Amino acid sequence: MKLLFAPMEGLTGYTYRNLHHTCFGGVDAYYTPFISAGQDFKFQNKERADYSPLNNKTIIDDGIQVIPQVMTNNAEAFCWAVMKLSESGYREVNLNLGCPSATVVSRGKGAGFLRNTDALDLFFEEAFDGLSKAGNTDTSITVKTRIGVSDPSEAGDIIRVYNRYPISGVIIHPRVMKQAYEGTPDIDCFAACLEESRHPVCYNGDIRTAGDYEWISKKFGDRIYAVMMGRGLIADPALAREIRGGERLGRGALMAYTDKLYAGYKELFGSDVNVLHKMKEIWTYEGRSFEGSEPYVHRILVSKRVDDYENAVRRLFDECRIKASGEHSDAWKYDIYR
Ligand SMILES: Cc1cc2nc3c(=O)[nH]c(=O)nc-3n(C[C@H](O)[C@H](O)[C@H](O)COP(=O)(O)O)c2cc1C
Repeated sequence: MKLLFAPMEGLTGYTYRNLHHTCFGGVDAYYTPFISAGQDFKFQNKERADYSPLNNKTIIDDGIQVIPQVMTNNAEAFCWAVMKLSESGYREVNLNLGCPSATVVSRGKGAGFLRNTDALDLFFEEAFDGLSKAGNTDTSITVKTRIGVSDPSEAGDIIRVYNRYPISGVIIHPRVMKQAYEGTPDIDCFAACLEESRHPVCYNGDIRTAGDYEWISKKFGDRIYAVMMGRGLIADPALAREIRGGERLGRGALMAYTDKLYAGYKELFGSDVNVLHKMKEIWTYEGRSFEGSEPYVHRILVSKRVDDYENAVRRLFDECRIKASGEHSDAWKYDIYR
């Protein structure tokens, strides 16, 4: 079973990915946060930097995949993006059909594209036709999808659209768009999608402990080709390694990792405001790896200056213990620090 690092906009840029791979590993592929492909046929500088093979060299040189994710509802722009990314050496491109953010879905992109399965069908028809006319039939196209916009009963129609095209893999996050990240993944709907799909399927959603992974992998076994993890891996960056039978997260390793990340962001951004913003995002997840960390994380999140931030981080590492390895449970509230 492959272990995939989920794309997470604002969190898993190349600085994060390279460091995660170097310090913890255990992941077979890192998906980039989405790159927008608009009708202007241009990527922004920041997006180009994120997928540039030079900036992902540490991972790629070790034979681990980096897979760019594209967000668009325009087939021509998608073909252009796939061609560009394949020129950079990428052999898989993932299409985002899961993002629930209001600005994205209001433009009919991300999970908003699932509203209109006829338009989605036409998109794939034009996209695969365009790629074939351009002579690009060897880039694997995968999709990352939700199970509907407002009701899981929409899932069947969505999967049947994918079934009509030579898609190489369907990564299913079994929540509907309207849930955003609320509630729990709909495992029964996921099982039904697995039955319906003629493509290889990957499970994604709320895997936060080795016990959760065991539970999913026992339930679906080799009927799924991969498990993708996002928030759970940011909270516990050693999770994939632990699942692979390696060392569990330790205090020293997490401290060294967090320090390196902080140094990496200082180098990348320069300005304290941006660095603190990034680190606070990380801490909303990483804090969950400690016992009783809420007040400590709160202090980190309200820090305004670098020295306040550094003191708050030191106190957390000094005074909180890393949690023991977790069993499976479906009661993890992700938003406790928000
Ligand atoms: C802050 C944040 C940013 C995300 N950015 C992306 C993204 O760029 N592309 C994408 O497909 N999914 C994105 N997701 C969704 C995750 O990839 C994943 O599908 C979701 O969090 C469920 O998996 P998890 O429970 O393992 O985190 C994002 C989620 C969060 C919380």
